[in-house]
Amino acid sequence: MIHYPFEHDAEEHERLQRQDDLFRPLTRSFLAAVEAEGVKRVLDIGTGTGANHAVLAERFGPGLHITGLDPDRAAMQIASRRLPPGVKFFEPVPESIEEYRPDQAFDLAFMRCVLMYCDDPVATVKKVASFVRPGGYVLIQDADHSSYCRTEPESLEFAALHHEIQGYGVTAGVHENMGLRLVDVFVDSGLTPRMEHRAKRHDGVSDPRIFALLGRTVVGMRRKAAAVGIPHPAEMDANAIASRLEALAAGRRVFSSTLVGVAAQLPLEVS
Ligand SMILES: C[S@@+](CC[C@H](N)C(=O)[O-])C[C@H]1O[C@@H](n2cnc3c(N)ncnc32)[C@H](O)[C@@H]1O
Repeated sequence: MIHYPFEHDAEEHERLQRQDDLFRPLTRSFLAAVEAEGVKRVLDIGTGTGANHAVLAERFGPGLHITGLDPDRAAMQIASRRLPPGVKFFEPVPESIEEYRPDQAFDLAFMRCVLMYCDDPVATVKKVASFVRPGGYVLIQDADHSSYCRTEPESLEFAALHHEIQGYGVTAGVHENMGLRLVDVFVDSGLTPRMEHRAKRHDGVSDPRIFALLGRTVVGMRRKAAAVGIPHPAEMDANAIASRLEALAAGRRVFSSTLVGVAAQLPLEVS
């Protein structure tokens, strides 16, 4: 099961845009490193606002047919409106992965930043692989947040605030470092990982975009967090959190997240 802690609303769709702004180059380099032939039909699981369609089309287009699977109908309307060149056809399927029963197998299944919300990642990856034809591909990219927002030189105040924010996500059920477990999850799912790819943004001096995203991420989880008993101040404000982090990180290097990508090819059918 996927327990997604965010709402399906405009606030979340804006957050996904901000996330893609930071992650897109990392996904582009993962896809560039993947060896895959004959990819025409792609299943994008947890498609959201279609942030990955442009890079998928760059890598596998032209003429790509993408099926997007996501219970968030409004997000997929955004994806349908901004179809990138190279995508011939986008089919939104407003269902969850658990209930999806495709009538045809795909050449490739792709999933970015979804597994970290699953309570049984092995069962989910098995499910993902079941949608793919023999000889087809499973490509999953997920975050390793273990170095996320660490600063150098270290600020104890920054570390304490960031720790509190991360704890919030963990208690809301997010597996923050799913990227680190990906290879094991593939193996336990019966897939042979073909490659593991680690990509990271250049670590820079206090990038305000990281803090803006973090502020929105913690605020976006507030209802879920409240449901599991985490108190949150009523005045919790994404911009205020971002400004506080930015002020504490001023003059320091800030380390960003790593995205880990793992690819596997399914065996060809034995005749
Ligand atoms: C963090 S977003 C990632 C969106 C997109 N893959 C990207 O990289 O921008 C996770 C997405 O998974 C979707 N999701 C949540 N539960 C799901 C489920 N059971 N089956 C499929 N998608 C699901 C959410 O609605 C959300 O759009």
